[in-house]
Amino acid sequence: MSVYEAIARRRDVRAEFTGEAPDDATLTRVLAAAHRAPSVGMSQPWDFVVVRDPATRARFAEHVATERAAYAAGLEGERAETFRGIRIEGIRESGLGVVVTHDPDRGGPHVLGRATIDDTGLYSTCLAVQNLWLAATAEGLGVGWVSFYREEHLRELLHIPPRVRPVAWLCVGRVSALHDVPDLERHGWRARRPLDEAIHHERYRSQTCRRAAPPPSPTTDSRPPSAARCRC
Ligand SMILES: Cc1cc2nc3c(=O)[nH]c(=O)nc-3n(C[C@H](O)[C@H](O)[C@H](O)COP(=O)(O)O)c2cc1C
Repeated sequence: MSVYEAIARRRDVRAEFTGEAPDDATLTRVLAAAHRAPSVGMSQPWDFVVVRDPATRARFAEHVATERAAYAAGLEGERAETFRGIRIEGIRESGLGVVVTHDPDRGGPHVLGRATIDDTGLYSTCLAVQNLWLAATAEGLGVGWVSFYREEHLRELLHIPPRVRPVAWLCVGRVSALHDVPDLERHGWRARRPLDEAIHHERYRSQTCRRAAPPPSPTTDSRPPSAARCRC
């Protein structure tokens, strides 16, 4: 699979896990790809905690369900209704979790390139996540990023030291299919911005929305009306 194909096929997966975890060799290849990510000052601030124990995954899933309910309680009207139909995790069904952590002390106090922008450490860990996600896609696996959690809860659950941040719980497993369209777009939560809106020339232009929210045409626009509406 070319890198462009992997980028195009990559999807955040929630409902399509078959329950089959990747075999050890495949998982090692995927983690090796993550470990090859670029990092500020070559600090490599990430670690990967592989969680297979169903009891640990069940405890995490319960916590996530609580946080999902708290988020849902703050929504109103159409947003609340749309959110009700959206899955936000496949923790039990995916077969295993990979928790990607970030150690801000890795590389010592003089990380080359991090002196003026401390966040570059965190950016590096996120790049490891993206490498993992693309490699998993090329292996025919699904990945779902779960962030509906309190960092303290995950620290305690996995014995992560206080200074280390759990950046992502990634559900990883075999899937029945990968959809062409993101779940949130299919459910009418939010659509992809057009590329030309994201590209600026010479200077950053402040954007007032150039899409005047035209009513969706039933013949040319197959997306649900709420997805076609501009929300920027
Ligand atoms: C930092 C981050 C956190 C995310 N957290 C969640 C989450 O908690 N639950 C979920 O279902 N999806 C989560 N996602 C997935 C996004 O919803 C998804 O990437 C987006 O809708 C685009 O879909 P796609 O990844 O299939 O292209 C997260 C993605 C990122 C990058």
